[in-house]
Amino acid sequence: MKTSVPFFDLAVQFKSIEEEVKSALDEVFGTQQFILGPKVQALEETIARYCGTRSAIGVASGSDALLLSLMALGVGRDDEVVLPPFTFFATAGSVSRLGAIPVFVDIDPETYNIDPSRIEERISSKTKAIIPVHLFGQCADMDPLLKIAKGRKLFVIEDAAQALGAEYRPIAGEDGRRAGQMGDLGCFSFYPTKNLGAFGDAGMVVTDNPDLSEKVRLLRAHGSQPKYFHKWIGINSRLDTVQAAILLVKFKYLEKWTGERQSKAERYRLLFQELLSSVDDIRLPTVQYQNRHIFHQYVIRVRERDRLRKFLAAEGIGTDIYYPLPLHLQECYASLRYRRGDLPNSEKASEEVLALPIYPELTEDQQMAVVNRIKAFYRK
Ligand SMILES: Cc1ncc(COP(=O)(O)O)c(C=O)c1O
Repeated sequence: MKTSVPFFDLAVQFKSIEEEVKSALDEVFGTQQFILGPKVQALEETIARYCGTRSAIGVASGSDALLLSLMALGVGRDDEVVLPPFTFFATAGSVSRLGAIPVFVDIDPETYNIDPSRIEERISSKTKAIIPVHLFGQCADMDPLLKIAKGRKLFVIEDAAQALGAEYRPIAGEDGRRAGQMGDLGCFSFYPTKNLGAFGDAGMVVTDNPDLSEKVRLLRAHGSQPKYFHKWIGINSRLDTVQAAILLVKFKYLEKWTGERQSKAERYRLLFQELLSSVDDIRLPTVQYQNRHIFHQYVIRVRERDRLRKFLAAEGIGTDIYYPLPLHLQECYASLRYRRGDLPNSEKASEEVLALPIYPELTEDQQMAVVNRIKAFYRK
């Protein structure tokens, strides 16, 4: 019988922590406190420590983490924000929600992250901020980006939604800097399939800046201080106690799970070697410098992507495409007047990327099944 491999499988992980999660939930149900509270505070302290920042603010989602960060920096109508188009929609959507304009800069085709050498030419007098995205769990090339931001007095918001625990280490032997701690603010998502996933939506903003921290904290609760007196116009983006309680349980396993993702990535690399020597259509993920890649996704590149994906689906192998259409070509951004060909690296990546199953519980048999089915495709 052929081994089938789902793209992800949260049920297996849940089984391994079921008792702990249920007892954490029982505790919350006993208190009947469901919004913010000590569990959220404990999670904020845990994540701040983990990211090496002075503070962290729990919010309702990764999308809101971005929105609130932009609001805290005062980004608004007609301001411009530089970001890559090869990312989840929220990176740009949060900018547009505030009446500001996303200015798309192409990616480095090796890492899929924003190419810092293309940023300067897109900066104008209206530019307020840059949002690098640490896509798939690897940090963007932050040093040149931070240098530009400093020289041009721009804010940097890291979209670290996929990169909790990733480290940027451009120089061998140096300590890595954690995703989220390099910019003015860092944004995380705890969407269920993330490396640290809640049982619903949840997110976090981290920062070293006490003023920004205070502002995000107020803005997530309608800018109210004291209660019912509103200093700013915020939104309701409080983190649920239940989610914080679950995330605190799961956090204890995060390092172990990350190590397991990394060893699955290494195993894929080894399993693919034979195929790579005979087929030049496949490219494996590139790890830049000595970065700590946390492999939120394991993304290969293949010219025959759509045919391969269909073949694998018929063989019971789950895959996904992040992302099939870059944001500058989305219908909702037609008024920005980008054309196909404007950002070729992003466009080509959208046609060729294929995410393979990667999660801590993925077995050797399952990985062999994935690679063997890909081999079978090329033998056809
Ligand atoms: C790069 C990126 N940015 C932002 C988000 C938004 O996070 P959420 O889904 O928690 O709102 C995600 C989540 O999918 C993401 O992958």
